[in-house]
Amino acid sequence: MERKLTSIVSYPERGEGGNNRYRGNCSPKLIEDLIMHFQPNEICDYMCGSGTTKSAADKCGIESKLYDLHSGFDIMNCEIKERPEFIFWHPPYWDIIKYSDVMYKASDVQSRYGYDPRKLDLSRIQEWEQFVEAMNYAMMKQFTALENGGRMAVLMEI
Ligand SMILES: C[S@@+](CC[C@H](N)C(=O)[O-])C[C@H]1O[C@@H](n2cnc3c(N)ncnc32)[C@H](O)[C@@H]1O
Repeated sequence: MERKLTSIVSYPERGEGGNNRYRGNCSPKLIEDLIMHFQPNEICDYMCGSGTTKSAADKCGIESKLYDLHSGFDIMNCEIKERPEFIFWHPPYWDIIKYSDVMYKASDVQSRYGYDPRKLDLSRIQEWEQFVEAMNYAMMKQFTALENGGRMAVLMEI
């Protein structure tokens, strides 16, 4: 059954999908609701974390493309190769939760992809103003990559 989609949401029961031990993960129910409401054929997530977006997309029977700094993609420097129809963006909470070398080993990423993720991780930016600047850049980069009429949903947690 489709839940009503609102700007402010709360999912007391997280639901299944992704990894609830990946800190700062989100409820797959939110992504399912977005898919059911907007009916895209495909969803892209450039900061996919534990892969909650894929679980939601699989459940709804649509395609998904997932990227993250832990898997060789840096939003600040890598090209967005497709023209996404729908983007789900769930960025880091500044420095409240650190990702590189906490949720995954920086040395694994270094040996697999040839860069130190700690230098590119938005959750490791020390100055608030620099974090906001990086967030604005990342937002515009994704937004301008959208296909005509495409949509982007941003999750900010409070
Ligand atoms: C809030 S988490 C996403 C959680 C995800 N929605 C889930 O349910 O598991 C934010 C993600 O942003 C990623 N990230 C941080 N800096 C990045 C960058 N420069 N490029 C790409 N991903 C980055 C982190 O590795 C982390 O997985």
